[in-house]
Amino acid sequence: MQADLVVVANRLPVDRVTLGDGSRGWRTSPGGLVTAIEPVLRVNDGVWIGWTGGTDTDLEPFEHDGFHLVPMSLSEEEIEDYYEGFSNGTLWPLYHDLVAKPEFHREWWDSYQRVNRRFAEKAAQVAAEGATVWVHDYQLQLVPAYLRELRPDLKIGFYLHIPFPPGELFQQLPWRRQIIEGLLGADLVGFQLAGGAANFIRLVRQRVGHKTHKDLVYLPDGRTVRAAPYPISIDAAGLEQLAQTPAVEERAKEIRESLGNPRKIFLGVDRLDYTKGIFARLRAFSEVMADGHFDVEDAVFVQVAVPSREQVEHYRMLRDEIERLVGRINGDYGRIGQPAIHYLHSSYPREEMAALYRVADIMVVTPYRDGMNLVAKEYVACRFEDDGALVLSEFAGAAEELRQAWLVNPYDLNGMKAALLAAYQAQPKELSRRMRAMRRTIKQHDVAAWAASFMTELADVPGNHTKRLRPVRQSHPSR
Ligand code: G6P
Repeated sequence: MQADLVVVANRLPVDRVTLGDGSRGWRTSPGGLVTAIEPVLRVNDGVWIGWTGGTDTDLEPFEHDGFHLVPMSLSEEEIEDYYEGFSNGTLWPLYHDLVAKPEFHREWWDSYQRVNRRFAEKAAQVAAEGATVWVHDYQLQLVPAYLRELRPDLKIGFYLHIPFPPGELFQQLPWRRQIIEGLLGADLVGFQLAGGAANFIRLVRQRVGHKTHKDLVYLPDGRTVRAAPYPISIDAAGLEQLAQTPAVEERAKEIRESLGNPRKIFLGVDRLDYTKGIFARLRAFSEVMADGHFDVEDAVFVQVAVPSREQVEHYRMLRDEIERLVGRINGDYGRIGQPAIHYLHSSYPREEMAALYRVADIMVVTPYRDGMNLVAKEYVACRFEDDGALVLSEFAGAAEELRQAWLVNPYDLNGMKAALLAAYQAQPKELSRRMRAMRRTIKQHDVAAWAASFMTELADVPGNHTKRLRPVRQSHPSR
């Protein structure tokens, strides 16, 4: 089939599952991107191209839950080199401020180019004449340029879900020029924050030598590319509605009981990733306990750590470190039947998450660097009684909007301890003042508004410009 809207992402919005009768099927994944794009996709009868998560090679396009899905397969080697390697061993740490050391391997880069080319070819096949193609995230930054080469008639949008780093870091990448040129294949390049868009524009000017003005890039072939911020959000109303259901309320009560009815419950919810600052936050919590401000009767910490990228060495090491720390804290401060940290290495459905958000008095979100962090927004959406405290890292994109959180520098342990304690001791009046303001923000900027503004501005990017351009300076290194 040929579609007027094509979404291209590394992953499909479905997970492989084994059904009750033992057969294999699909389940829509709980991720934010699905909720974000679903309405636009449905209205436009669009298709979604993405990887299934496995190595199956014989998958045909299929329908699930009303979505038209086009599965891409990766070989074992591509999973190692393109996905675990270049995407998650090079780009992920590089774009997250070198929280871990990125590795640069030429065979990873080769694989990244090959897989990006295949995704672009697939998009070129399924897009109708003049269609719009929306490419997502750091795994597919070369797709816009490859696709434009194949199909100059298309409108191409690209959105980066993670931070775009300052030039000083980005320039370490041996293939920096190719990545920038890859992105410039799009008409609109979207970032989470204005800072990321500005980093990109500056690099385009300095590294590739194109003329830029504000958020526009003027290319020698006459095209104009816009680079702008579109902070992503959540389905705030839908989540609030879910949080208000009797089933969720009942479950929240049950959870509080199972935790031994402590006065306050702290909660962390993250993919188990080294950018998230899980280790430091648990340490800060345990030190507040050691300082004698509360014990397990007063407060416990529930940490949900969603399994992630388990084949990548850094992630395995991190898991071991966190689990050792949890064991030590529970050994030091727990009592029989009353651990200080309730650590869950698992993922949960939306209903269970809503119940956890409802039961949490203090939500702790302390990444070293994060594109946005939707968990912080989800927590706020579920606090319909205007109570609860959010402790939030300054280095999460969400901190630009959720100014009334207790903002912390996750590298500053004492600062984090002070914020945890302040949130623990805060009076209801202060909690509700802060929460009301944050709730107003997320209601105004929900995910529907995010998707709509990206799509509208993609349609509106000026076509060919008539600027007289200076030739690209030849003195630039080839990459
Ligand atoms: C981040 C990235 C997404 C990615 C997700 C889960 O949110 O921005 O592109 O899909 O993590 O990671 P995974 O490697 O399991 O797809």
